[in-house]
Amino acid sequence: MRSGGCRYGTHRVIEPKGALPQNAQKVDNTLPIYDNEILIDVDTLNIDSASFRQMKEANNGNIEGLKKMILSIVGERGKQQNPVTGSGGMLLGTVKEIGSNYNNRFDLKVGDKVASLVSLSLTPLKIEEIIEVFDGRDQVKIKGHAVFFDTGVLAKIPADIPETLALAALDVAGAPAQTKRLVKPNQNVVIIGAGGKSGSICCAVAREMLGKTGKLIAIQPSENGRKRIERLGYCDEVLGVNAQDPIACQRAVSEVTNGEMADVVINCAPVQDTEMSSIMSAKDNGTVYLFTMATSFTKAALGAEGIGSDALIIVGNGYAPGHADYTMELMRTKPELRKLFEEVYV
Ligand SMILES: NC(=O)c1ccc[n+]([C@@H]2O[C@H](COP(=O)([O-])OP(=O)(O)OC[C@H]3O[C@@H](n4cnc5c(N)ncnc54)[C@H](OP(=O)(O)O)[C@@H]3O)[C@@H](O)[C@H]2O)c1
Repeated sequence: MRSGGCRYGTHRVIEPKGALPQNAQKVDNTLPIYDNEILIDVDTLNIDSASFRQMKEANNGNIEGLKKMILSIVGERGKQQNPVTGSGGMLLGTVKEIGSNYNNRFDLKVGDKVASLVSLSLTPLKIEEIIEVFDGRDQVKIKGHAVFFDTGVLAKIPADIPETLALAALDVAGAPAQTKRLVKPNQNVVIIGAGGKSGSICCAVAREMLGKTGKLIAIQPSENGRKRIERLGYCDEVLGVNAQDPIACQRAVSEVTNGEMADVVINCAPVQDTEMSSIMSAKDNGTVYLFTMATSFTKAALGAEGIGSDALIIVGNGYAPGHADYTMELMRTKPELRKLFEEVYV
């Protein structure tokens, strides 16, 4: 075991010097671990949706090509950080070794099944073999190891939730926690990409916060996605518009809100150029939460300025205190949501 590791993982950064692991070009994924780290035997990578889509498109849908791309990214960078989207994902694995100075605030033991709640984009990872790619749920079964720093966040998989379900739900755990904070009774709430994984869980929470008040509006262009939303029954309106078309979104939201627009907009669409649909669906003093990793800060900031919008724009921080427990609780208490997750994402 090595000593002298930094709690934020800077000791693992190879280049550029002085960077934190997330914005490093390359990190050191070698063993042995430092004494303030924890080593995980990795079973499954849950690749971030925006990243998986980009890699699949870059390989014209060819899964062998996608496998090679993942191996090449991790080989070059020492972590699964898509160079185009910048995003990573999370993983499922088993605790293999705990450093003697690791803070162990999650009370982990060797042999515990865990999911990571910090991004793969900052996690030193070594892949020995890709066993299988599960297209449709953005997951990759591998043989390999990952290293977590003192500040990393890991969640023990609860005994009553199957591992793959926990992994799928925990991947987007930041979104329901933020939705709970943002949505208040009587508001108009728009969820963009509402038929997807994070979108549907945000709809469940928004409905709970609104109760019978307010209006919950889904934006979802594909028919399949709309069927998923309708099946859950949380939303008052389902708009089949494309979030890459801001004028169409603004018009559609205006129609169903009698021109009031939304108090809160939550964007879960994993595609580029949806910033302005989010901002233009909101009231001038509304709140826009950009959970999607396909967000461009420049497009959001300059776009809002360009139309004179004073909306509060929030970056989709994936962490909120208690987010993992809250997400697991939703899987226990919302059987319709759990069933959808089990059918579509597991
Ligand atoms: N901030 C964080 O910490 C964090 C953590 C995890 C994930 N994310 C990000 O959150 C986003 C959503 O992830 P997810 O796992 O929920 O993805 P997902 O399951 O693929 O869901 C995305 C949804 O958006 C819909 N969509 C696609 N194109 C659209 C468009 N042009 N306009 C409106 N809706 C559109 C999809 O419809 P179809 O299924 O019909 O294509 C789907 O219903 C991704 O960008 C991901 O990177 C962020």
